[in-house]
Amino acid sequence: TGLPGTNYERTFIAIKPDGTERRLVGEIIGRFEKKGFKLVGIKILHPTPEQAAKHYDDLKSKPFFDGLVKYFSSGAVVCMVWEGKDVVKTGRKLIGETNPALSVPGSIRGDLCIEVGRNIIHGSDSTQSANDEITLWFGETEVTNYESPLEKFIY
Ligand code: TYD
Repeated sequence: TGLPGTNYERTFIAIKPDGTERRLVGEIIGRFEKKGFKLVGIKILHPTPEQAAKHYDDLKSKPFFDGLVKYFSSGAVVCMVWEGKDVVKTGRKLIGETNPALSVPGSIRGDLCIEVGRNIIHGSDSTQSANDEITLWFGETEVTNYESPLEKFIY
């Protein structure tokens, strides 16, 4: 389970401090749930700057890195693991573009935020980074797996 390309593919989604402060947690979870994805891991925490820097390690040479680390560690973050067919790619579609100004209405960033540096949500950009990020934020016993074997249209 968790294998990319199967119905059990997983992605890491985080609601950033502005999303949490703005009380958008339920709205965001609702969009992933209504799409049909399955929530298999969730917790809320206040990241340290060290945790934030590790999460964004691939961006450490960027001019916006320090501000990004400060923002991500400035408040409570809701960390989640979502499961389902093509969830990495489709999750990114639900989220929209990196810059909310370029995100279409209907997407999370297109509907709910304005600034690239305050774009309320993170989603893994590949199955490889999904795996790395899930490992960074969750212990093995913190991601659950439950079956719903009698349902015909939910998987
Ligand atoms: P990135 O991983 O490129 O985008 P995404 O979150 O869509 O995967 O960048 C990480 C975050 O860095 C992004 O969500 C917002 C911030 N950022 C800026 O503040 N300025 C920028 O010019 C870019 C590209 C990103």
